Amino acid sequence: MLSNLTPQDPDKILALMGEFKADPRQGKIDLGVGVYKDPTGHTPIMRAVKAAEARLLETETSKSYTVLAGEPAYREAMAKMILADLYKPELTATLATVGGTGALRQGFELARMGSPEMRVFYSDPTWPNHLSILKWMGVETIPYRYFDNASRGVDFEGMKADLAQAKAGDVVLLHGCCHNPTGANLTVAQWKEIAAVIAKTGATPMIDLAYQGFGDGLEEDAQGTRIIVESFPEVLIAASCSKNFGIYRERSGVLIAIATDTKSRDLTQGAMAFLNRQTFSFPPDHGARIVTTILSDAELAADWKAELEEVRNGMLRIRANLASELRALSGSNRFDFVEQHRGMFSRLGASPEQVKKIKDDFAIYLVGDSRLNIAGLNDESVPILARAIIEAGV
Ligand code: LMR
Repeated sequence: MLSNLTPQDPDKILALMGEFKADPRQGKIDLGVGVYKDPTGHTPIMRAVKAAEARLLETETSKSYTVLAGEPAYREAMAKMILADLYKPELTATLATVGGTGALRQGFELARMGSPEMRVFYSDPTWPNHLSILKWMGVETIPYRYFDNASRGVDFEGMKADLAQAKAGDVVLLHGCCHNPTGANLTVAQWKEIAAVIAKTGATPMIDLAYQGFGDGLEEDAQGTRIIVESFPEVLIAASCSKNFGIYRERSGVLIAIATDTKSRDLTQGAMAFLNRQTFSFPPDHGARIVTTILSDAELAADWKAELEEVRNGMLRIRANLASELRALSGSNRFDFVEQHRGMFSRLGASPEQVKKIKDDFAIYLVGDSRLNIAGLNDESVPILARAIIEAGV
């Protein structure tokens, strides 16, 4: 049986992590995988996370099972953080999942249970694992235009035209903020227009919210999601705590499903718990408990928000520095998009050959589509990257 297996295509982002590790060159720079690093190149544990863990060590008295859908307090705290006063418990089903990827997978499974013939519309480009999961599930995927390579902004007219082709029973997958891999995002006015376009088709929106707090702020980054929630009777949201709480390896995510009435909400909640049971049974709890401890304690929550703001502002400063270096070296403002993009990533718009040259000649690792992780840079590496970009002819 096992000898019948064939090799799987490696995930490009994870393969790049391995390639970087194996590179013996001194001064190599990793701008690949989306993990936050401080200016010393370290991925720190946030202060509030450490404090919450210390508290849990003292107070937790049992490691017995929770419930299949995960601790209710965690799910409620996350729903409130994302939806604020739009959170209506009687219409909202929630599920603790194995990270944001687990939330996406369970969300796709749930959607397919309700709409077996569904097609999923995805932004072109999108996070490669969206497509990999959907392909593995045998779900038909349809791209919608998103990134305009000339302006490095959103191709809004193309996006609207393509989304108008969706129909009832389809899912439209949207990045809630900090678009991965491009860094180009919708304005509030554009979110409203997109909501109106999708609403006309009868399709169901599903939002991937993996970077709340990394773009314009914790509340600001939830605005697009909230506009969608206000505009549709049914919405799916797959959220991650990996980045904004910095608890990547704890695998804490949540799937939120907003239903039209309480009966449908109860059915959805049951289906979600069933999906967890079929996949891994009970979801991981430690990360979820850290998040709950932080969000339910005013002092810890304030400290977490303050540190998240430090992280976010640090990335904005790096964006400004990189744009300024590139302005000086290129004698033009054609790289100013780096400063306008938001979140962890920017897509440079470089060719695969240019990305390879940047890696070969400068030991700087970008994802092959020229996505760079802004949080992998610091004051020393910004000028090195700027020079590499210009010398590679981008
Ligand atoms: C990324 O896009 O780099 C992150 O979401 C990490 C991952 O799992 O790919």
